[in-house]
Amino acid sequence: MGITSPPYNKRENKKGWLVDKVVYTGATDNLPEEEYQRIQIEVLNELYRVIKPGGSFFYNHKLRWERGFMLHPMDWLRKTKWVIRQEIIWDRMIAANIRGWRFWQVEERIYWLYKPEGKNIIGKELKPRHALLTSIWRFPPENNNPHPAPFPIALPVRAIYSIMDEKSDGIIIDPYCGSGTTLVAAKILGYHYIGIDISKEYVEYSIKRLKNYRNEIKAVEEELSRHVVRKTFKERKEKGEFVGRHRKVNNQKFSLTLFEYQERGDHHE
Ligand SMILES: C[S@@+](CC[C@H](N)C(=O)[O-])C[C@H]1O[C@@H](n2cnc3c(N)ncnc32)[C@H](O)[C@@H]1O
Repeated sequence: MGITSPPYNKRENKKGWLVDKVVYTGATDNLPEEEYQRIQIEVLNELYRVIKPGGSFFYNHKLRWERGFMLHPMDWLRKTKWVIRQEIIWDRMIAANIRGWRFWQVEERIYWLYKPEGKNIIGKELKPRHALLTSIWRFPPENNNPHPAPFPIALPVRAIYSIMDEKSDGIIIDPYCGSGTTLVAAKILGYHYIGIDISKEYVEYSIKRLKNYRNEIKAVEEELSRHVVRKTFKERKEKGEFVGRHRKVNNQKFSLTLFEYQERGDHHE
């Protein structure tokens, strides 16, 4: 599997004074949009080629606007070979803006892309231990990283741990690895990894970070602690316990009101 956050082609020179610039050392983030999308399709199709059937790729991107026109990652993702398995909202938990043309964009997107295995287009079910996680991922912004646009280590940890699950062997690829966040996550979780970045400086930083991976074990463990359920759906069902908003009592289907549902305290589990 793989995970990446590519450069977003944000045309940094056009940025307003309210927002900090993201400037990479080895590449400009300023291509004609058509060319940018063509390159992204090419990179994603190459990843599709090298990733095994049944494998996944997590692609982090965001909504952008160019002269009022919305550019959506789906515009080019649908042109790749990948099956789009899920669109995840990454709530970056950043503070509000003081003014702007739109409501303050605090979220990015993560696309879970899937390479079908044989006739199985949908892929395997996630293990019950990941059941508390939803399609909204909330991670606070990353501090203590000299790279201008890193993602928090919890993000690749969540993706790798949920997908690789009980597999003891595997390779994780990040074709725009920046400060090496994906690689450190893979290393701590015990997988092989391949990282690529155009900037020599970021590659050197990644190597240094990988050597000091022990400093990040705590952050990885914190994310892993979210992948637990006290009882699985199957176990609750077998014991006749609450398994959702609708339940069968004496073979009759009852619908709990939201109030009853909250009263029971079930929503905490
Ligand atoms: C958003 S950053 C990735 C940050 C990374 N996820 C992290 O946590 O540090 C995108 C990276 O893509 C790199 N990059 C830009 N153009 C590239 C290219 N053509 N090939 C490889 N890497 C490139 C930049 O140097 C930058 O480090």
